[in-house]
Amino acid sequence: MEKVVALCKRRGFIFPGSQIYGGLANSWDYGPLGVELKNNIKQAWWKRFVHLREDVLGIDAALIMNPLVWEASGHVANFQDPLIECKKCHQRYRVDYIKDKICPNCGGKDSFTDEKMFNLMFKTFIGPAEEQTNTAYFRPETAQAMFVDFRNVVDTQRLRLPFGIAQIGKAFRNEITPGNFIFRTREFEQMEIEYFIPPPKSEKDWQGPFEVWRKEILAWTANDLGVGLEKIHEHEIPASQRAHYSKRTIDFEYDFPFGVSELYGLAYRTDFDLANHERYSGQNLKYRDPDTGEEFIPHVIEPTWGVDRSVLVVLIDSYTEDQGRVILKLPPKLAPIKVAVFPLLANKPDLVGKAKGIYQDLKHQFTVAWDDRGNIGKRYASQDEIGTPFCITVDFQSLEDEAVTIRDRDSAKQERVKIVDLKTHFFGKIEVE
Ligand code: GAP
Repeated sequence: MEKVVALCKRRGFIFPGSQIYGGLANSWDYGPLGVELKNNIKQAWWKRFVHLREDVLGIDAALIMNPLVWEASGHVANFQDPLIECKKCHQRYRVDYIKDKICPNCGGKDSFTDEKMFNLMFKTFIGPAEEQTNTAYFRPETAQAMFVDFRNVVDTQRLRLPFGIAQIGKAFRNEITPGNFIFRTREFEQMEIEYFIPPPKSEKDWQGPFEVWRKEILAWTANDLGVGLEKIHEHEIPASQRAHYSKRTIDFEYDFPFGVSELYGLAYRTDFDLANHERYSGQNLKYRDPDTGEEFIPHVIEPTWGVDRSVLVVLIDSYTEDQGRVILKLPPKLAPIKVAVFPLLANKPDLVGKAKGIYQDLKHQFTVAWDDRGNIGKRYASQDEIGTPFCITVDFQSLEDEAVTIRDRDSAKQERVKIVDLKTHFFGKIEVE
């Protein structure tokens, strides 16, 4: 984990937030490479679950919603974690964070207060007066917008049940014990789908789509993130620990270096959310079956993915070392830079001109880096460390045969390819979102 964090800082994937002011605990900024990696993950997700499907449409809703949303959703009453405080050093912890009743900060034993519940929603005020009546919340999950916009989506799109509404966006939680780099932060991003189904007449009617989404989560993890499924563990959450809205939840856990922990989730939210929003808003949130004319409140299966945890898993999973050299074996479609272009020598205008032409041309299709410093071996090593799958070297022979050397990150094999064939060559190897 320390090596991944160090690499992220050294190469500009992820920096400590507000660093010039001494930082802000557990806040992180995505740097130039990190934002590319994160965007590639989000684009792959959107492509798989929105563009390639006919039954899922996307939205992008406001972060701050009418506060009544959070009354109706149950978050004001229920979105809380048990908190304890060390009486010696006054550090506060989520109860399950404490092992053997010892304070991780001061080492105090049995020094904790009784548990009290702490609401995780971030409060703010709308408008210039900081009054109770103006209190609003930054959304703690993206999901509620899919319920609140349900009527608008149904009325404006030609959708028939079952269908899903998807969203990618920020969520905020005043976590008691954030930590482990970008694993648990107070500001993070989610990719969520609310998949609406007719009210089940039997258990099978919701268990079927639940199972389909269970497989979809695994397929995404294996095919899009390139993570071996032997590192993913499904954890059936017992009723006593499930969120207030859920009738069944599976956590998909990953073997993080700090222990097996939640990566994604899947829940059967019943009609809890839509029914409550109908009650609180007084609006009709029923779906009308176009064939039978029957009206009902749909039920919901909710697969949910953390963006930042996806980034973390991809980084951890791709991190390898070979004789002390770091090679980040990212799936090519997720790599921040797809191709690096090198002129063999930086002081030969002919070589530089030829290489610049290739660089400029490829930029229209791929993210491309330019490097003309040091020897070629060092340039390869520098690109390996950030996961660039292919490096192109333009040498003296290129000026005669209009071909270049392409070197593959993982096999270190080199092949000679005609410049006119470069785009087709890479399109065969790199899926571009
Ligand atoms: N709408 C359901 C929901 O929000 P959740 O299990 O609380 O369910 C979904 O969150 C996903 O969001 C998690 O599986 C995780 O990937 C991510 N997530 C939750 N809290 C997070 C935090 N504090 N920091 C980073 N990611 C978080």
